[in-house]
Amino acid sequence: MKTSADIKTQYQSYVIPTYATPSLVLVKGKGTRVWDNDGKVYMDFVGGIACQNVGHCHPKVTEAIQHQAAKLVHVSNLYMNEHHGVLAEKLVSLSGLGGKCFFCNSGAEANEALIKLARLWGSDEGKYEIISMKNSFHGRTLAALAATGQTKYQDGFEPIPDGFLYAELNDLASVKKVLSGRTAAILVEAVQGEGGIIKATPEFMTGLRTLCDEKNVLLYCDEVQCGMGRTGHWFGFQGTGVNPDAFSLAKSLGSGYPIGAIVTNAKLADVFQPGKHASTFGATPLACAAALATIGVIEDEKLVARATEAGAAFVEGLQEYVEAYEHVKEVRAQGLMIGMVLDQPAKAFCQTLTEMGLLAIPTAENVVRFLPPLNIKDSDINEALDIIDDALADMHGVERAADEE
Ligand SMILES: Cc1ncc(COP(=O)(O)O)c(C=O)c1O
Repeated sequence: MKTSADIKTQYQSYVIPTYATPSLVLVKGKGTRVWDNDGKVYMDFVGGIACQNVGHCHPKVTEAIQHQAAKLVHVSNLYMNEHHGVLAEKLVSLSGLGGKCFFCNSGAEANEALIKLARLWGSDEGKYEIISMKNSFHGRTLAALAATGQTKYQDGFEPIPDGFLYAELNDLASVKKVLSGRTAAILVEAVQGEGGIIKATPEFMTGLRTLCDEKNVLLYCDEVQCGMGRTGHWFGFQGTGVNPDAFSLAKSLGSGYPIGAIVTNAKLADVFQPGKHASTFGATPLACAAALATIGVIEDEKLVARATEAGAAFVEGLQEYVEAYEHVKEVRAQGLMIGMVLDQPAKAFCQTLTEMGLLAIPTAENVVRFLPPLNIKDSDINEALDIIDDALADMHGVERAADEE
């Protein structure tokens, strides 16, 4: 077996450093836990950043992938495969939008598809602009980057594609200020993940819907991080009572097997015609099998409801730390999409948690983000809360009695 040091040296020599060199080499996962190359076990509350809603290597997903890998991995979309339409029908039905799906490989690509769809839809009327929210995140391809309302991701990549404008989340007046006859779509996350776990309010979403209907503009949701049950709804927008015209999905859709999608309403279902958009690997039999198995597990184990229940239990525990520890300012949550806001950068605290056996990642600088699997057990929530308590006690220099530890 290679040592972790050997693996790190090879990584640093040959992998383009788009990520700061990771501290761990992870080699195995099961449910809520992952193991590193040295055999140490961690509770994983990162889950590939919201990709593991049913936990690592769920037996039903693993079986579906193994079975399909031995049968048919990929054929061109010039041919049909047995799962493509089944998955599309399932997503349309879960969404309640009544339209159709297009499949790709990632969140950024799904948002690209939404953007292209809006431009094509609006092309006859000269509508091409997209309004997205400040503090949002929509991916790293050039158009998704342009839609991302945070300049730190755009710096150095100028010229940024034209036709993107930004408004403040939960401020309808700021949307109206940039809306014009050129606006094709408004893009919003029901819960901003990279923005620091910030919810779009139902009032804002209702206001956007009305505005879009009045001005003949499309309303889009990015469900890449908050979708697939994590917020206590199949899709985050369902918690706001407002339906978009279309939305993007990826991350947990295939339990870590790459697959992205857009789901539309009937109005947008046939805007893309043959030759207008495509993806070689979109909806391969293998990706569809992974996604169908994932959806099956979420349904069978009633994980949408479990996200609400488990989220409430976890938040109740975290809330006590807001009272007990001065550096903990606030808990933000929707289902199992949870942020603990510190009065300082969260990176060092996340490092301490990692050393103590709990993986969590910072977002928006000072927010500790927790994205555990939706089928997490109560005992695992309690174990994680104990680790967080210990790490906070360390941070605050609190002496613990031996029997408390
Ligand atoms: C809300 C949101 N949209 C889009 C993306 C981009 O997804 P991907 O990395 O699969 O391209 C992300 C990734 O973090 C995301 O959180």
